[in-house]
Amino acid sequence: MSTLGKMYLNGRIVDYADCKVHAFSGAVKYGAGVFEGLRGYWNETESELYIFRLREHVERLRFGMKAMRFDSVGEADALVESVLAVSRANAIRGNAHFRMIAFLEGDDELPGTGPVGIVVGAVQRPPAKRIETGVAVGISSWTRIPDNALPPRVKCTANYVNNRAAELEAKAGGYDGVLILTGEGKLSEASGACVFLVRNGRLITPDVGSDILESITRDTVIELARTRLGLAVEERRVDRTELLIADEAFWCGSGQEIVPIVSVARQPVGDGKPGKVTRAVQQAYFDVVYGRVRERPEWRTPVWQRP
Ligand SMILES: Cc1ncc(COP(=O)(O)O)c(C=O)c1O
Repeated sequence: MSTLGKMYLNGRIVDYADCKVHAFSGAVKYGAGVFEGLRGYWNETESELYIFRLREHVERLRFGMKAMRFDSVGEADALVESVLAVSRANAIRGNAHFRMIAFLEGDDELPGTGPVGIVVGAVQRPPAKRIETGVAVGISSWTRIPDNALPPRVKCTANYVNNRAAELEAKAGGYDGVLILTGEGKLSEASGACVFLVRNGRLITPDVGSDILESITRDTVIELARTRLGLAVEERRVDRTELLIADEAFWCGSGQEIVPIVSVARQPVGDGKPGKVTRAVQQAYFDVVYGRVRERPEWRTPVWQRP
């Protein structure tokens, strides 16, 4: 996977090789950054690239910068344009994953708050096999960062030391991925995705007080489950034992999309295969992100045929 040749840095499209930050910037020294991962979906019939929920990603980036006490949080329209500019500069006509990072550029001491840089880059990604097969996950011995230590609800770069430790441990244990529990031992989320259980036809997901990221895909799944699939959704604290008795489970995220969880700590979830409800959620999700259905047009920002 390699980043495409044209990137956006502080208002300009630059070559990948010229997209640089000082090695003594606050971003490098202290992990003072916030980022977004989002996707563009290529609709072959319409010859269009749709960026999924671009406005919401930009707004989360902005409230992430606010939570980090950055000097400025940027103009929403300019941030939206930065993703469109990268798409066009790379002539993207296929599925792509974008990363935007807002970071402290200055060589300052710990309480520095600016200047704030913005960088955007893209990779083209084929669909992942795990969407079909599902993943076998472990439960981390690492605790999810609590909100009174680091801000889990925003995508602060430094948070990901926690997620990375959990992933490294899971990989060493032979798992495809990992679930992380809160300090109280309740289910929080996966290392790069939010988690849903299915029990008796209802969806259950940890609430935003469970030290999760305020996930845009989680919100999408809740909306589609209620409005398109007619499913009840519970947002609440989730006990660890609920993983053992769930009929189905999946995780979701912009990068991960909708991935069935087929076992937890080597115990099968349900019958150990991707379940019917999970498949229905996948179908509803992919229909909407690609624009195969007309509903929720405000979630899809077209790159090539701008109104
Ligand atoms: C820790 C974590 N949780 C959840 C998610 C899902 O968030 P979203 O749906 O906004 O992509 C991500 C996505 O990158 C993540 O890194």
